[in-house]
Amino acid sequence: MKAGVIVEPAVAAPRAVTPPFDRRSVVSLFSRLRKPGGQCNPLPLYAELRSMGNIIPAPWGGQLLTSFELCDQVLRNKAWLVPDGDWRARQGAGTRWTAASSREMSKTLPGLNPPHHTKVRRSAGNMFDRKSLESIKVMVEQATDNLLDRLSRALRNGGEADFSALVSEELPVMAIGGWLGIPPGDFALLREFTHDQVFAQELLPSASQLALSDAATAGLREYFMALVARRRETPGDDPVSGWIRTWDALEPDPEAADEAVYFLALFVVLAALETTSNLLSTMVWLLSEHPLQMEWLRSHPQHVAGAVEEVLRYDSPTHVVSRVAGDDLTLAGVPVAKDEMVHLMVGAANHDPAQHTDPDIFDIRRKATHLSFSGGIHYCLGAPLARLEATTLLTGLLRRIPHLRVSREPEWAPRVAFRRLTALHVVES
Ligand code: HEM
Repeated sequence: MKAGVIVEPAVAAPRAVTPPFDRRSVVSLFSRLRKPGGQCNPLPLYAELRSMGNIIPAPWGGQLLTSFELCDQVLRNKAWLVPDGDWRARQGAGTRWTAASSREMSKTLPGLNPPHHTKVRRSAGNMFDRKSLESIKVMVEQATDNLLDRLSRALRNGGEADFSALVSEELPVMAIGGWLGIPPGDFALLREFTHDQVFAQELLPSASQLALSDAATAGLREYFMALVARRRETPGDDPVSGWIRTWDALEPDPEAADEAVYFLALFVVLAALETTSNLLSTMVWLLSEHPLQMEWLRSHPQHVAGAVEEVLRYDSPTHVVSRVAGDDLTLAGVPVAKDEMVHLMVGAANHDPAQHTDPDIFDIRRKATHLSFSGGIHYCLGAPLARLEATTLLTGLLRRIPHLRVSREPEWAPRVAFRRLTALHVVES
């Protein structure tokens, strides 16, 4: 057996792709996934995708993985790499992988492979360990209280409010911005940049989306390089100043050290905003859709953390994670050539009936397992912060606005990899 080849689990015989493979049905499925109906409820489409097999050729090249077990295996196996700078350069000029925004992303943590990844991840430190989280908790509780004050005022006398704009878009930037010591006056700018930058990380971005992402990336570089310069001049007791001290010890060239700190600060902000905003809105939407569970939670607040995990499983903010083969490999009996990309359809895998009983039933009492924060060496560094924000907000909502309900059909941006609820109108009933 060749080194690095994935060992088949002894019990599960590889499920072959349903022959003859119908490329057009996959194309049609992804097009329906982007439409309002597919955004509102992608689950029937994911069931259709899973019925085609656990590994399916992607119409644009590479493979789509739909089962929880295969996705989990790939995330944990070192033979599978992230598409790093060298891989992107090998795709040739003029492809999405060589756009300025994509090249910039390849220098951030999720674009690095070992040993570089190991060094950079260590340099970031354990950002949200128990002790750091304790001090952040106070700030998150304060921010949540202020936002709920605003929401209560807006809902007074039968008023309607957009929960997404008023709360979900605000809390993550207040939390990460407060932690990094970013002036609140800059929050709106960072949020706007982030919304555009994410296109470089989408499944199949268009040329115009990539242009938006390139412009946002340039703006973010300017912003964070200036922040690093300010902290170098006036160091403080904040994460950016801490990373400067770490990188000065690792890197003799101060410019290279600043660049490394810039990439850490940039990615932490990019990773923290849309994903968490979406989790907060989805949480309110799903609970509003399941009023009996919302009511049960009001009398069982000790299950708030479990409810957040079920929201993460049921509709993860990230539905696709990608890897490339580091060698010629075999996956579930299918040969995958070196450099070929596999798309882990996490949104579908989280509903795999082989992993979960009645996967399409939203049940906050289940012990939800999910791949929403990825797995293996790239496991999300910010998961404790995202969980803290969601549990704090849900606890505050149950206490202060217990009868919140969604008053109109929510709106989503037509995305596949990064879910984005753009509007979620609520009233108090
Ligand atoms: C609900 C909210 C969030 C979700 C769903 C999420 C999801 C993810 C996923 C799927 C990955 C791995 C991508 C891959 O394997 O290729 C990841 C990585 C990462 N996330 Fe998160 N994230 C969230 C919030 C946050 C927050 C709040 C922060 C920072 C404060 C953060 C920081 C990071 C970092 C630094 C990585 C890179 C880890 C590495 O490559 O070693 N994330 N996140």
